Amino acid sequence: MNILITGVAGFIGFHLASELLKKRYNIIGLDNLNDYYSPKYKNQRLNLLRRKKKFKFLKIDLKKKKDLDLVFKKFKPKVIFHLASQPGIMYSFKNPKTYVTNNIDVTKNLIEQSLKNKIEKFYFTSSSSVYGNKKKFPITEKSSLEPINTYAKTKQQCEKILLKKFKNSGVDLKIFRPFTVYGPYARPDMIFITYLKKVMSDEIFFLYNYGNYIRDFTYVEDLAKILSKFLRVKKLKNKIFNICSSKPIKVKKLINIINKKITYKPNIVLKPYRNGEMKKTYGDNKLLKKTINFNKFTTIENGIKKTLNWYKKFNNKKILYFNKVKYK
Ligand SMILES: NC(=O)c1ccc[n+]([C@@H]2O[C@H](COP(=O)([O-])OP(=O)(O)OC[C@H]3O[C@@H](n4cnc5c(N)ncnc54)[C@H](O)[C@@H]3O)[C@@H](O)[C@H]2O)c1
Repeated sequence: MNILITGVAGFIGFHLASELLKKRYNIIGLDNLNDYYSPKYKNQRLNLLRRKKKFKFLKIDLKKKKDLDLVFKKFKPKVIFHLASQPGIMYSFKNPKTYVTNNIDVTKNLIEQSLKNKIEKFYFTSSSSVYGNKKKFPITEKSSLEPINTYAKTKQQCEKILLKKFKNSGVDLKIFRPFTVYGPYARPDMIFITYLKKVMSDEIFFLYNYGNYIRDFTYVEDLAKILSKFLRVKKLKNKIFNICSSKPIKVKKLINIINKKITYKPNIVLKPYRNGEMKKTYGDNKLLKKTINFNKFTTIENGIKKTLNWYKKFNNKKILYFNKVKYK
């Protein structure tokens, strides 16, 4: 059985493909290797996947319907993990159009192919950001959606379209809402790599909301295992799942834990809250745990340790860039 992963050269796509290859699935990975952040870094992840016989990579832009058509005809996938996306919160205010194209339009193209080719399972990674700023915690899958940035709005729109188009189609649709994902091979626009790079080069790091943002950090290898476990779950009434450890911490605490494990002296400047960023994320993961029987979430201490070990060994740090000039 061929499993298609879109966004396979991305942070989560790479970990998911690694996990599924361990389980001996055939993986067809698609990605356009865009330059939102370093394509060389994306290629480095791909090189690790390419060592496996059961992995095939195709450089495809999901906007191109004809290319997508050929992929479906040739490989006849039965399962799609749709992870390709334009991520990033602050950039979504600068260039909203790319979010509409690479999140909404691309998802529509995949739905069209999936219906035409009678796909069995369509698994979509939405985001915890669809919830917006909440007062009641933990946030359950039934909490209302009040997205406060363009990225989250396009994710909400994708969810609506998927639920509508796959209704009564026989396709097993699942929508996942991961909460801030971190770990080895992380995205260079997210807190871990931005912080470590600044600290190690003695540059100022801006800590927004005075470090008081609260995040329900989720370790990436847990997420990959969770997604993989869903392959064995039958079609269910519940289609939407939070993916989080349900152990939120303040970002300043995260920084303190990191600082205790490194020898560099940080240069942190506290900054106020930024519009568009969620003040607190704290998800309820009961439904998830009940559905797939997953209880062993990596603790934040352990996850940080593993991420730092990876970062120290990663010897090509200059490719860990995020296209700031264009995107910040
Ligand atoms: N990282 C997180 O904390 C987090 C949290 C919640 C949800 N998510 C979601 O999980 C998914 C994966 O996120 P990630 O952190 O791995 O992001 P990522 O940017 O590392 O990966 C996304 C990949 O999609 C590819 N892509 C984008 N547009 C494409 C197109 N038109 N055609 C083909 N490929 C395209 C990019 O080149 C990239 O490699 C995304 O849908 C994201 O919104 C991520």
